Amino acid sequence: MDESLARWLRLREAADAHARSETLMHRVADTLAGRTPLRLLDLGAGTGSNIRYLAPRLPRPQQWLAVDRSAALLTELRERTIHLHVDIEARQTDLGTLDPSIFTGRHLVTASALIDLVSDSWLRSLAGHCRSAGASTLFTITYNGRSACDPVEPEDDWVRELLNRHQKRDKGLGGPAAGPDAVASAERVFAEAGYQVERAPSDWRLGPADAQMQRVLVDGWAEAAAEMMPESAAAISGWRARRFAHVDAGRSHIMVGHDDLAAWLQ
Ligand SMILES: C[S@@+](CC[C@H](N)C(=O)[O-])C[C@H]1O[C@@H](n2cnc3c(N)ncnc32)[C@H](O)[C@@H]1O
Repeated sequence: MDESLARWLRLREAADAHARSETLMHRVADTLAGRTPLRLLDLGAGTGSNIRYLAPRLPRPQQWLAVDRSAALLTELRERTIHLHVDIEARQTDLGTLDPSIFTGRHLVTASALIDLVSDSWLRSLAGHCRSAGASTLFTITYNGRSACDPVEPEDDWVRELLNRHQKRDKGLGGPAAGPDAVASAERVFAEAGYQVERAPSDWRLGPADAQMQRVLVDGWAEAAAEMMPESAAAISGWRARRFAHVDAGRSHIMVGHDDLAAWLQ
């Protein structure tokens, strides 16, 4: 499980970095000027993709706390962030219930590809902890329920609807996941907590050069759709085979909708 997740995170890292909103990153960086050392918290850090993106772009010195439930991913994070020459504590933590102490003294709380997995009440609790710490926040690459495939297949919309319902299943982070509604929910709860909030698109636009990533993506969508509707497994499998054929022929383009969200205190 951890190995296949690690492979997926390696595969998507360049697409994530390319898709992220530089504007929002700079907005947040401006709020961090003069914080020395800069203390940062990366939630659901995985193998450290978010830290590899942000560390070279934010003021130094930096002290990171990277938390994730997976010890294996955190081991890879330690190995693959040494070259950044910033101070990183990688701590194995289950974020199902948020421990207030991880927020204490943090200037930035950030997460990448996480907040669509969490519940509304988890987001409310997150906003409260960030507010108490006076932290700025940056949540990137949150799936927003939109996608488009070219060439089109007749089942594309149906599979996406099944996937979006699957995204709302409980992922162990405070109850049924916000899924495609996560950015809107986060926008609301951070604004209610007194934050200035801004969002920007961070869509993936995958082409023939991203063939392997497209295959894994389509496979994951098909698996989720079949879990939602096992009686349609054969139809879903047929859809996957046709999408794979487009990828193999070098003619497949897939857009996956994401949003970045930044929030800071005035
Ligand atoms: C989609 S991955 C994103 C990883 C990384 N932020 C990135 O962008 O590459 C979601 C991460 O959340 C972690 N995660 C999921 N549920 C968790 C939980 N209950 N407690 C801690 N980490 C969790 C997973 O182990 C995984 O590393």
